[in-house]
Amino acid sequence: MRTSEETRVADKQATLDLGGQTQEFPVLEGSVGPDVVDIRKLYGTTGKFTYDPGYKSTASCESALTYIDGEAGVLLHRGYPIGQLAENSSFMEVSYLLLNGELPTQEDLDDFTYTITRHTMVHDQLRQFYQGFRRDAHPMAIMCGVVGALSAFYHDSTDISDPEQRKIASHRLIAKMPTIAAMAYKYSVGQPFMQPKNELSYTGNFLRMTFGVPAEEYEIHPAIEKAMDRIFILHADHEQNASTSTVRLAGSSGANPFACMAAGIACLWGPAHGGANEAALNMLQEIGSPDKIPHYIERAKDKNDPFRLMGFGHRVCKNYDPRATVMQQTLREVFEALNVNDPVFETALKLEELALNDDYFKEKKLFPNVDFYSGIILNAIGFPTTMFTALFALARTVGWVAQWNEMISDPAQVIGRPRQLYTGPTERDYVPIGQR
Ligand code: ACO
Repeated sequence: MRTSEETRVADKQATLDLGGQTQEFPVLEGSVGPDVVDIRKLYGTTGKFTYDPGYKSTASCESALTYIDGEAGVLLHRGYPIGQLAENSSFMEVSYLLLNGELPTQEDLDDFTYTITRHTMVHDQLRQFYQGFRRDAHPMAIMCGVVGALSAFYHDSTDISDPEQRKIASHRLIAKMPTIAAMAYKYSVGQPFMQPKNELSYTGNFLRMTFGVPAEEYEIHPAIEKAMDRIFILHADHEQNASTSTVRLAGSSGANPFACMAAGIACLWGPAHGGANEAALNMLQEIGSPDKIPHYIERAKDKNDPFRLMGFGHRVCKNYDPRATVMQQTLREVFEALNVNDPVFETALKLEELALNDDYFKEKKLFPNVDFYSGIILNAIGFPTTMFTALFALARTVGWVAQWNEMISDPAQVIGRPRQLYTGPTERDYVPIGQR
């Protein structure tokens, strides 16, 4: 692993020719992946900006957390392939890995799990926030509000210049997110909030807080616990995606971590990002039966129709998303364990097959992403569609927190402040209202 100072300057230089005036820029080399042209001095030396809406060609930071090769279908966390982590690891272990850079020893993992487990309760007054929401509030609306409100409760972990406070805030966020998400669900169905139980696993605890009731013992289904834990692993981090970049940008101003996570949740909510898991299941249910698929594929291809195949396509993944592969396998395991056979799965498989053999999707390299199958599993487990993105937020919190910590610890970190190509009016004089 490499630190900021060790980032290698490749032998190559990039030469920019601006109307006959040439300028050299260093090319930086990561440990793997595309080199980057270091244009930090571009404006200072040429008076020009780069233009890259959507950041399609922009590396916004240096990071040692997650590597994606979208063409090859590779996703590595701290170097470890997602398939291996999903198969052999646990969400707690992956969280430790993302936060600390190395896989934990058994003792490290026990200590980490102990700490997280003992931060799962939320301040008792926080429950009153829930009463302020309508019962039919979207869980993501509640998550934005309640997670942001944490900064009003945990003042002793908002000093971002103190590494110890950053660590406590990170643990609190990872630990409390399941409690907050489960409370959002309980509030929507009018059942009492369930307190966490320390003898349970991170994921088992979440399932009990969501589906258990105080009147009786809740029995955790081992296959569901395993599947849910794996779903959390698959959502833990994904490089500089929109919500992570939002967290980094919010954090770059020195905002406290709870406020930054609320910003990340807001960004994740959109259907082009985390909201796609909800939209994908709604779409599959709307399609209803395999014979209607061709009609929807034609709609997705029609430029005059805003409809898109939800759960398909990705800015970076231009091959089969390795998370979708594990997700499909997990789906089969859950169906077997619960002895269910949801016709929506058949529709999804057929849709995938037809889309992957269609020239439009082939040419544009549109493959199922992590959200395509996750909704079907979550539905089978018993979550309403509105909870899907909240579950994504729960799991992604570890990635957000790890990326935020990495950014704050980076000596090269400055406030994120993009520029623009201005196309508005040039300077003109104010006209009094009576003369307009
Ligand atoms: N259905 C139909 N056409 C699509 C789809 C789709 N799902 N996705 C992309 N395309 C087409 C676009 O219309 C565009 O066509 P054009 O070149 O003729 O204009 C081309 O493929 C490239 O798509 P862009 O939107 O330019 O690609 P971008 O990288 O900006 O967007 C995105 C990626 C937002 C994920 C897009 O694929 C999409 O909207 N997918 C559906 C929503 C979804 O599943 N989001 C979850 C992403 S994963 C995640 O966030 C966890």
